[in-house]
Amino acid sequence: MHVRLQEPKLSPIADDVMSGLTRNPKTLSPKLFYDARGSELFDQITELQEYYPTATERKIFRDNAADIVAQAAACTAAVELGAGSASKTVLLLDALMKAGEPITYYPVDVSASALDACGVRMQQLLPKLQVVPKVLDFTQGMPQFRRIAGRKLFLFIGSSIGNFEPLEAGLFLKQVRSSMNQGDALLLGTDMRKSPDVLIPAYDDSEGVTAEFNKNVLVRLNRELNADFDVDQFAHRIVWNDELSRIEMHLESLRRQSVSLGALDLDIEFRKGETIHTENSYKFTMPMVHAIAENGGLSVERTWSDTKEWFTVHLLRA
Ligand SMILES: C[S@@+](CC[C@H](N)C(=O)[O-])C[C@H]1O[C@@H](n2cnc3c(N)ncnc32)[C@H](O)[C@@H]1O
Repeated sequence: MHVRLQEPKLSPIADDVMSGLTRNPKTLSPKLFYDARGSELFDQITELQEYYPTATERKIFRDNAADIVAQAAACTAAVELGAGSASKTVLLLDALMKAGEPITYYPVDVSASALDACGVRMQQLLPKLQVVPKVLDFTQGMPQFRRIAGRKLFLFIGSSIGNFEPLEAGLFLKQVRSSMNQGDALLLGTDMRKSPDVLIPAYDDSEGVTAEFNKNVLVRLNRELNADFDVDQFAHRIVWNDELSRIEMHLESLRRQSVSLGALDLDIEFRKGETIHTENSYKFTMPMVHAIAENGGLSVERTWSDTKEWFTVHLLRA
């Protein structure tokens, strides 16, 4: 009998987790939040009364969709990076379709379950829309979108750009730019600086949904990497870092403890009070927006905002 020995297959998240947890201070990339449960919890967060970014950006789209689409000018494809379940995007896609041309929508996400929810939503609300979902990590490049025929509108909304360090944000926009052809545009959503009295509850809600979202990454590591995190021994912590203009999300070890990640053959030690830094969410000023756009080789052509200027949406061009 011929027995074929196979290397055990390592989870696709293994490299990111290994590099993050062996660093000092310890980190985990925010993209790791989005397994099926994480995507579901994120959708719940967007419905919370404290989480103003989604409702505010939705209102900007509701009030300005026709204007945004007219400014983008005659697009026949929309490519959305980190689309999630695309609850706000419907407003823009509807306006694009009303502008006349048939539209193909390419939602991109690391989360297959979020893209399934997106597909169901589009089928229900915009049955004539052609949807071509792509499960991929947008930080790994996306040259294939350059080959799409016709004029494209890229979408990077929900202030997902705020998860990057400012220099990385410019580099990321440069990557998007390299997928753009003449006439293509990028619609970028940015959450603006405001009082910590508004910012902190948005990331530390009274129902504890964001806490569960943050801790779910440990549940994921237990399942996918055979780890033994005692999730109750980590607390959800939010910090407003005024100097760097960002909300930081951490998981704080409530005691000295050792955790083993079987699939990585890795044991890690935590001091009491030591944290894993799980997310940054930069809060922007207009000069910050212009700086990252410029670093990405793009310029801000138009900006839309809500009346309180809590959130802004920008049309960028090469
Ligand atoms: C903060 S949510 C925003 C969702 C939606 N765009 C919105 O505005 O509500 C971030 C989304 O980006 C996806 N995502 C995060 N990192 C990603 C990556 N590196 N590549 C592709 N998708 C990513 C997540 O799965 C999630 O659906």
